[in-house]
Amino acid sequence: MYRYIGNKTKLLPYIVDRIRKMIGDVGTVADIMAGTGSVALGLRKYGYTVVASDVMTYSYHHLVTNLQIGEYPKFPGLVSNGIIKSDSIHPYYDVVSYLNGLNVKYSFFYREFSPGGKPLNGCPARKYFTSENASKIDAIREKINDWIAEKAITPIEESLLKHTLIMAVNEVANISGTYGYFLSNFRKNANDELVLKPVEIYHKNAVGHTVRLGFAENLAGLITADLCYIDPPYMKRQYAANYHILETIARGDFPEAVGKSGLRDWWDQHSKLCTKTRGLQSFKKIMTDMHCDRFLISYSEDGLFTLEQLRECFGEFGTVEVQQIDYNRFRSNDSKLPPKLKEYLISVER
Ligand SMILES: C[S@@+](CC[C@H](N)C(=O)[O-])C[C@H]1O[C@@H](n2cnc3c(N)ncnc32)[C@H](O)[C@@H]1O
Repeated sequence: MYRYIGNKTKLLPYIVDRIRKMIGDVGTVADIMAGTGSVALGLRKYGYTVVASDVMTYSYHHLVTNLQIGEYPKFPGLVSNGIIKSDSIHPYYDVVSYLNGLNVKYSFFYREFSPGGKPLNGCPARKYFTSENASKIDAIREKINDWIAEKAITPIEESLLKHTLIMAVNEVANISGTYGYFLSNFRKNANDELVLKPVEIYHKNAVGHTVRLGFAENLAGLITADLCYIDPPYMKRQYAANYHILETIARGDFPEAVGKSGLRDWWDQHSKLCTKTRGLQSFKKIMTDMHCDRFLISYSEDGLFTLEQLRECFGEFGTVEVQQIDYNRFRSNDSKLPPKLKEYLISVER
């Protein structure tokens, strides 16, 4: 499973059960802080039409893969330029194996994120990846960039390849839970060779879903749905800072790597929901602007806002009901926090 703060894979049955009770078996559900896309994909599997978005670019690519692909793309542009054979039985698998076979490149990831590199800002070499894996990531992501520039792959093919690369990168990253910092010694899995593995796609019900990139506060007015599921950050930890490396892979760019940890400038993706001062205003803006009468909000016992604060905030928009679920906390490997906590599923009906 994708290790991502707040990943709702395990809570999906509760979420879907609640949604069914609120709108029945069919309808349009918005998932406006969709992260890994686990809930969005679950909703698609249950037959809902999904409008999904997030402020992070990697999430956009996960969402396109999870919602808009019903059969593997055929990569015609890579057939016509000879990268894969015209009689290829499984073009996606062939593209993945082509990318796995590229010669390594000693470029941005190698320089900034591996022990063999010398960060441009003069800081000591970072250890997010082994030098071998960082130079493989460089080769793969720059090849994807070339294909985009040559218009040899479609936007959907781009998303599928970036999703595939991110899933492989997660396997070998030398981190404890998030990309906020790297471990001083390489953990066991980080020494494994980075290998892209073809991802499974879901074949049914791929039509009619929408994916957007942006702040929920800005997109809300553009969305009409029978129900809106909101899964906000609970804490002050900003996703943009904690997943900067995935963002750089998703954008395919070469940002300045700042400080010892090598973070990109993430201020453009700073979330107000991670702040006590502006979080509730964000909820209100979303609920005011969206064309929707039912909301389901996930929140956690140890979040920035108390249940009472949330009840008061959401009470302005309708009748509030709260379901409490015992849950295992997301913990980095060295966390001292207790393993159990309560998750809230808060429904609001106008
Ligand atoms: C708890 S996670 C969602 C996890 C998701 N349900 C899953 O299962 O992977 C919260 C998400 O909200 C996104 N986010 C934070 N503030 C946002 C905002 N103002 N607008 C849109 N997305 C935001 C983060 O990038 C993050 O992916």
